[in-house]
Formats: sequence, structure tokens, C-alpha cells
Amino acid sequence: MNLIRKALSEISVIAGPSSPLLAAGIAKHLDAELIPADLRIFSDGESKIRFGKPAHKKCVVVQSTHPPVDTHLLQAMMMAAKCAGDGAQVCAVIPYLAYARQDKAFLDGEVVSAALVARLLESAGVERVITVDIHSKIAASYFSVGVRDISSIPLLADYALKMNLRRPVIVSPDQGGIARAEQFAKILESDMIALKKSRDRNTGAVTIEQKLDADISGRDAILVDDMISSGGSIAKATEVLLKNNAGEIYAMCAHALMLDDAAQKIQAAGVRDVIATNSIPGKYAKVDLSSALADGIKTVFA
Ligand code: R5P
Repeated sequence: MNLIRKALSEISVIAGPSSPLLAAGIAKHLDAELIPADLRIFSDGESKIRFGKPAHKKCVVVQSTHPPVDTHLLQAMMMAAKCAGDGAQVCAVIPYLAYARQDKAFLDGEVVSAALVARLLESAGVERVITVDIHSKIAASYFSVGVRDISSIPLLADYALKMNLRRPVIVSPDQGGIARAEQFAKILESDMIALKKSRDRNTGAVTIEQKLDADISGRDAILVDDMISSGGSIAKATEVLLKNNAGEIYAMCAHALMLDDAAQKIQAAGVRDVIATNSIPGKYAKVDLSSALADGIKTVFA
């Protein structure tokens, strides 16, 4: 007899167009109903989204907001608005939360986009947000609904533990990432160093101090960052590590945006491999977030 097994949890997971596989993984971990969203993009670029009526009043919209950023963001709002309009409680799972870097006006006249994004998602009906390694706590503070920020570090470090590394040293490309790198190093029972990076706010050009405080000769290095965007930070950091006689160099991050020629830049600098989570689908998405996100959802809807 071909019995269709009914999902056990009382949660409906809407698979946003940017994150269908991740949504399926989350629904599987939750034993929840999975609702695919049907997307049509009109020739002027507008999105039309349609999905079946959720069976439950607890809805999870899974939609990462990697490029095309604005399109994915608006699609997240559309799905949230539909669920909220039907009377559901909406939790938005946005593993890569776009605009979190623009959390203040760094130069006169800049818009604080992170604050605007928070207001937009809330006005669409989002009552709770789950994200991964949000770039800044300030960005999270613009939400008046709860934001649960899940760290990918234990998962990335777990992956690194299975790599065959020679006396690895964990490297943060900048001082801002020290806590992340320290946590990573603790799991690997290894050492950590933080480079001294600065960025020109007008041109985006990155510079890193060449001299290190530690001897890393012959040691494999894992560069740990929240995201790789243009690849400039990782490429510059790699140059510094190689000048200081490091062994093999790997880059690990939560969000591999890998824009434009980032991959070539990083490879040319000497990085052996890039390992990221599946917050952004693609060839670098080697670490699965679905179980950690499912656990986060359980606590939201407990
Ligand atoms: C900066 O503070 C971030 O943690 C990343 O290091 C940065 O956003 C990476 O950007 P890119 O790849 O363009 O250097």
C-alpha cells in the first residue's frame, strides 16, 4: 500500500526561490510541510510568487538575500506578507542577510540601509528573524522583533577537523573577527592570529600590515571570515601569510558571495580551497546549515 506520510510538526516551510534546497533540508529536519514557491520574473524585472496555502499557522519563509539582493529581499517580503495576510505567524529564515554591512552612515549622506531593511521586513509581517553570522550586532538591533543569529563557526570548525592540516593556525583577516577566529581555534585546539586590515571607505581598497606577531612558518592557515565578497580581504591576507612562510592556505566563511572575479583573485593569491556554508547555494556551499536552522526554528515556535 502506498501511504503518503503526513508531516508531523505543525510548521509549514515555504521554500523561497533563492533557497529551495536549504528549505527542503530544514523541512526534513523539522518533519514539516514543505511548500515550494512558484516564481515568475516579468520582463521588467518584477517577481510574481505563488504558493499553495500552508496547512499550518506557523510559517517559516526560507529566503537568503544574496544577489540579486534587492529581488531576493522583495521576494522574502512578498512571501511573508502572503502568510501574514492569511493569519499565520511568520518566521523569516534569511541565512545571508543583505545590507547588514551598511549598519551606519560611514560617510556623510549615506543611507543606513540595515535599518530600512529591518523596517521593511517587519512591515511585511515578519515576526521573527533567524539569520547566520550577521555582519554586525548593530544591524540586528534595528529589528524590533526578535533576531536569532546562529553561528556557523562550530559547523565550519567541525569540517576543518576532518581536513588533514599541518599544525593549523586560525587567522582572522581583521581585528573585528577576533572572537570568531578565537572560537574556531578553540574547537581545533589550535592557535589564532588576527591581521591588521584597513579599508579605504571611498575606493574599497584593502591594506594589511605585513608583519605578524607570531611565527607561522610551515603551518597551514585557515582564514576565517563572515563573508567573502570581492575576495580582496582574503587575497591580501593570503599574500601576507605567504610572505610569512605559511604552508597551505584555506579560506572558510559563512557566506561565499564570491562576486565578479573573486574566485580567480583568491586562487591567484594562493588559496588552496574556499569552504562556506550553504547560506548561499553554489560550489563553495560545503557545510550544511539546515540542522542548526531547524533547531533555531524549534526554539522560536516552541
Ligand atoms: C569585513 O569586515 C568583513 O568581515 C569581510 O572581511 C568583508 O566584507 C569581505 O569583503 P571582501 O571579500 O570584498 O574583501
